[in-house]
Amino acid sequence: MAKILVIGAAGQLGIELVLALQAKHGVEAVDVSDIRVPSNERVMRSRFMHLDATDEGAVHKVLEEGRYHAVYHLAAMLSATGEKKPIAAWDLNMQSLLNVLEAAKEGWVDRVFWPSSIAVFGPESPKKSVAQEALLDPTTVYGISKQAGEYWCRYYHEKYGVDARSIRYPGLVGHRSAPGGGTTDYAVEIYHAAAEGMPYTCFLRADQALPMMYMDDAVRGTLELMEAPSEAIQVRTSYNLGAMSFTPGEVANSIQQHLPNFQVHCEPDHRQIIAESWPESVDDGAARADWGWEPKVLLPEMTTIMLDALGKKTHAAVH
Ligand code: SER
Repeated sequence: MAKILVIGAAGQLGIELVLALQAKHGVEAVDVSDIRVPSNERVMRSRFMHLDATDEGAVHKVLEEGRYHAVYHLAAMLSATGEKKPIAAWDLNMQSLLNVLEAAKEGWVDRVFWPSSIAVFGPESPKKSVAQEALLDPTTVYGISKQAGEYWCRYYHEKYGVDARSIRYPGLVGHRSAPGGGTTDYAVEIYHAAAEGMPYTCFLRADQALPMMYMDDAVRGTLELMEAPSEAIQVRTSYNLGAMSFTPGEVANSIQQHLPNFQVHCEPDHRQIIAESWPESVDDGAARADWGWEPKVLLPEMTTIMLDALGKKTHAAVH
């Protein structure tokens, strides 16, 4: 059985990816690790290993023993938290990636997935339909670490033949896991508030457009990228991946179609500066051409799905 390991399985994307990988390959085929125990019971049906991804010895031991077909290395500190702890963010984001790439160089892993982000772009990058090859201009430590990581992935591929693959995710919105420490987190929080019948105070300006994606699309895209034949992967830094672009005002509007009394009030904080530096939308033509990427869910449908799923959870908690 080809085994898979998810590092960072307790995070927003980790939980979702583990659930999808379990559904596809079976619980037994998936091992999960994190520095904290994932709160999701279904994730914990897979074998859990406590792992500090910055600990080279520990990561190498797990990967040498595990001989995984694929490792999804998701452990990272995100943009907003990273600005509060810049050196810790750099250390975590870089050291952990190098630990995994070194293990892949040793031949202990066939395929590595590592997430990059729209945070590699910045004030001097274009704002709309940003091309795959556009100027990278990260202004956050998180973005700097993602840019460097992209080039490390390509370096290990070119120098050592490591099959590392990556996606520049936009903000991810899902109902099965909570985000933490990101600038795009508002787009999840706003649905939770709405489902609980509460007003929401948004930390970004009402007209701040950012690229966003429904979680199931992101997970499907990630699995498609990882299943593509190696020769199809022409971009060995990281693929732009687009789905939709919206502002807090537009999400509020979309929620009000279902809940007319829902109210949003904006009090921009330090995260507004980060959001302003990022693009509004990206051009994902390379991902479409190389491995057939296509987003499926757009804002109106996402709002219906999110409110329905979170409404059921709220209802179950109350009764
Ligand atoms: N969602 C991330 C963040 O906001 C962007 O990649 O930090």
